[in-house]
Amino acid sequence: MRQSRFLPKKNFFSLLLLLLLAASCRSPEAEEKAPQAPGAVKVAEADQAMIVSPHPLGTRAGLEILRQGGNGVDATIAVQFALAVVYPRAGNIAGGGFMLIRTPEGKVEALDYREMAPGAASHDMYLDEKGEVIPGLSQNTLLAVGVPGTVQGLYAAWKKYGQIEDFGQLLQPAIRLAEEGFPISQTEADRLNRFDSVFTARNPYPMPFVKQGGWKANDILRQPELAQTLRLIAKQGPDAFYRGPIAEKLARFMQKRGGLISREDLAAYESVWRKPVKKDFREYTLYSMPPPSSGGIALAQMVEMTEPYPMEKHPWLSTYNTHLCIEAMRRAFADRAFYLGDSDFYPVPEKQLLDDSYLRQRMSDFDPQRAGSSDKVQQGEFQLQMESFETTHTSVVGPHGYAVSITTTLNSNYGCKIQVPGLGFFLNNEMDDFSAKPGVPNQFGLVGAEANAIEPHKRMLSSMSPTIVEKDGELFLVLGSPGGPAIITSVFEVVMQVTRFGESLEKAISTPRYHHQWLPQQVWYEEGTPPALIDSLEALGHKMVPKKYIGLVKAVQVLPSGKLKGAGDPRQPDDHAEGM
Ligand code: GLY
Repeated sequence: MRQSRFLPKKNFFSLLLLLLLAASCRSPEAEEKAPQAPGAVKVAEADQAMIVSPHPLGTRAGLEILRQGGNGVDATIAVQFALAVVYPRAGNIAGGGFMLIRTPEGKVEALDYREMAPGAASHDMYLDEKGEVIPGLSQNTLLAVGVPGTVQGLYAAWKKYGQIEDFGQLLQPAIRLAEEGFPISQTEADRLNRFDSVFTARNPYPMPFVKQGGWKANDILRQPELAQTLRLIAKQGPDAFYRGPIAEKLARFMQKRGGLISREDLAAYESVWRKPVKKDFREYTLYSMPPPSSGGIALAQMVEMTEPYPMEKHPWLSTYNTHLCIEAMRRAFADRAFYLGDSDFYPVPEKQLLDDSYLRQRMSDFDPQRAGSSDKVQQGEFQLQMESFETTHTSVVGPHGYAVSITTTLNSNYGCKIQVPGLGFFLNNEMDDFSAKPGVPNQFGLVGAEANAIEPHKRMLSSMSPTIVEKDGELFLVLGSPGGPAIITSVFEVVMQVTRFGESLEKAISTPRYHHQWLPQQVWYEEGTPPALIDSLEALGHKMVPKKYIGLVKAVQVLPSGKLKGAGDPRQPDDHAEGM
């Protein structure tokens, strides 16, 4: 048995327990299939407001708050709490996320409520005494949990921009759904059944996600403990979670079971308002998330790197355009791997990375006839840290002029799959988004750089890219996606199609996507990609690898008529666009 350098000997028993849990349950993460074959694109149009979320009951929770006089920010918060109930694989109250808010006056602000490393975290906490990464520790155990940001972040958004006077009112739809239950879909039933043995092994006490005989479609999922937790938050605000009864239970559980999060960590948690990344191109202005997200910078880089090229002369999925975008992706993701981390801890050279002449220079060795080489694009041995795919996004345009783009995550499906007895919510495993050891591959066979090394109270690098695009200074597009690093490329591809190609939102979302991230040197492409395109890219020297699906984009567009169009992703059966 190898012992972590980080854990003192007296905690050896805790480590043993953690390792047994980590090893005993082969995570079914890898078995996650594409969420069914694409069906009809879920498109809705409305005059005043539009919400697109990954679940109909999430969307409707937001509409309920709008009907009570709430604005887009209030509605967004109600959707998020409802998703913690009806979309527990990624919706959460013990995870984190990023929110972009555009006010009726056109001011765009970014709210960072990403999880933070606990105060007792350290650079080598996932290494054994030989300096080797201990498999599973940063994913499947309580050491994987970052200090959650969701409740504090949602409260901060409401405090600054909410219109509904009582914060607790925004939690009422979620409380009702948790208390009364809701019928689960076939997809959710399958997913819960797949994780059954993991839930059981990691939660040796009753929890609502394990069902004797297994789940089937339309079974009712009730979560009374979560309802009680939400009621406490509704009554006491974030204090219930960070200082009050929830904090107490959570910290006690951590202490007993070998986790790190203390009452002090919870009490000290703060979300941060940040200046969004802003990129002007043509008649458009793109706003997206700054560090600790890598999304905004990479997105802006790819927009600028492709800007001088006559893409419109060729169809979107032509060899010319796909090859060009892959090469822009290669360069943006190489920069991401070296330079990006939490800017509160690491001097991210944002200005230089977004400098137009730097970006033109980056493309100076672009060869339209040949795939580039990632060895040449960036010397060095650092590779990309890649996040998991189990994240989710909601796009909202409210009736009072507020637009919100919000991406949130527990990291893996259901986070670390551990619940604190009596509290009813899953804990994140976001610590795995740090580089456990620069230069050493993580669970996806990839490695990260020192910029994203673990430090107490630091935020782990993310790819979440909530994005808002203006056209001639007016709100035009609100969008985002789950998908780890493919979030960035998915958002990029939809933005490019809708802006430079004038494509309809639903067509842009349903078009097969591709993804390249510098390393490994391969291009993922979705089913439905024209075989001739795959052949021609291979002929240029790209290694083409099929992928069931890439990203699940949810977007709202303001049409020239002033109407709002919402579109979910046909790759995700439950995506739901509805307006009023
Ligand atoms: N955990 C996924 C991300 O933050 O990108």
